Amino acid sequence: MNILILGSGGREHTFCYKLAKSPKKPKLFIAPGNAGTAQLGTNLPIDPTNLEAVAQAMTQHQIDLVVVGPEAPLVAGVHDFIAAHPTLGHIPVIGPKQEAAQLEGSKAYAKAFMERHHIPTAPYKQFTADTLAEGLAYLETIPAPYVLKADGLAAGKGVLIIHELAEAKEALTDMLAHKKFGAASEQVVIEGFLDGIELSCFVLTDGSGHVTFPFAKDYKRIGEGDTGLNTGGMGAVSPVPFNDPAFEQKIHDRIITPTLEGFKKDKLDFVGFVFIGLIRVGDDPFVIEYNVRMGDPETQVVLPRIENDMVELLSATAEKRLNEVTLQISSKAAATVVAVSGGYPEAYEKGKEITGIPNDALIFHAGTTTNDGKLVTSGGRVLTSTGFGTDIHEALTSAYGNLTNISFEGMYFRKDLGFDL
Ligand SMILES: Nc1ncnc2c1ncn2[C@@H]1O[C@H](COP(=O)(O)OP(=O)(O)O)[C@@H](O)[C@H]1O
Ligand SMILES: [Mg+2]
Repeated sequence: MNILILGSGGREHTFCYKLAKSPKKPKLFIAPGNAGTAQLGTNLPIDPTNLEAVAQAMTQHQIDLVVVGPEAPLVAGVHDFIAAHPTLGHIPVIGPKQEAAQLEGSKAYAKAFMERHHIPTAPYKQFTADTLAEGLAYLETIPAPYVLKADGLAAGKGVLIIHELAEAKEALTDMLAHKKFGAASEQVVIEGFLDGIELSCFVLTDGSGHVTFPFAKDYKRIGEGDTGLNTGGMGAVSPVPFNDPAFEQKIHDRIITPTLEGFKKDKLDFVGFVFIGLIRVGDDPFVIEYNVRMGDPETQVVLPRIENDMVELLSATAEKRLNEVTLQISSKAAATVVAVSGGYPEAYEKGKEITGIPNDALIFHAGTTTNDGKLVTSGGRVLTSTGFGTDIHEALTSAYGNLTNISFEGMYFRKDLGFDL
């Protein structure tokens, strides 16, 4: 079986790691991949949002199944493109079609979906340049802090949480009238602030059946104590200690079930991963956002805890047999620590040699490549170290331990993950 994985991060390396362990011995192709995925399959130097190039690669390498890692190809319609292709139309794609990908590609679409299906989330209103005056007036009617969200994809930078009314008005004007986030902020969602602690829930659905993966919590800020700029993610742990059984039951009843029912009612035929960003307020769960793919770095703690054969799990999804599948989840906790280039998430240098990667540890590559036979950095998030333990603190100790000998110029990682748990 030939599997094409789209993407190039730690998430995709983790998928390769799990798929490569399958007794079905699949042949893996990764577009474009990184130095880690190159050890488990064949990297293809193509842009995963170049749909023609993806189709060509599928033909050339006789691909049987496509797994889409990041959101951009999904929002660009890669699934629709393949489904409509004259010779590739029968090949399953794990990842939703363009319409359903709007759950991530448009905050307003996601909020309307939640409203329509009575899924708990913060109250909201949406505005465009034409309704800027109403947006400014609306801000005056709601309490601080103000949550302003660019509607479209903004690489994790499109959400502003502002404490002062005057500053919130200025930001709304910047977003709508001056297109602060380009096309992404032609529409802005203003929503009520929810005060609580966040966690992430992952569901794999085939359009009728589903499995719920282990829950995870990620760390987004660059600085210790959750301070400083937002990043793609600096680490993650699974399970989540405050996700007690009673709370988890509420997530199933109030959020997962109505979300999957909503997909059916709206005829979205959603096949793929749903990432539900949740917040616990008191004893109740609310949805912060949907993503239509696995999270990174959450994948690096979630997939290693799943003991099922990953090829079989994805085949069951493609063949709409997920109802027959029972997930086997390891009782061990997992933690992952992300090592980044100095300066990230702002400007940083690339091409720094990486040394000291242990052979016997779970080190997933993200921004890595090879140059003259040397392993070098090629991105902001460079690699992640996943460890296991009887609880998340033990797992963190193991993940940190496996990083000790790894080095590259400017290497930085947070040393306080789990501090809040
Ligand atoms: N209504 C809200 N109340 C409180 N915090 C929020 C709210 N919406 C978003 N946030 C915070 O902002 C972060 C980013 O928002 P999110 O909707 O996940 O956007 P994205 O991941 O696309 O940047 C969230 O992880 C959360 O910390
Ligand atoms: Mg988010």
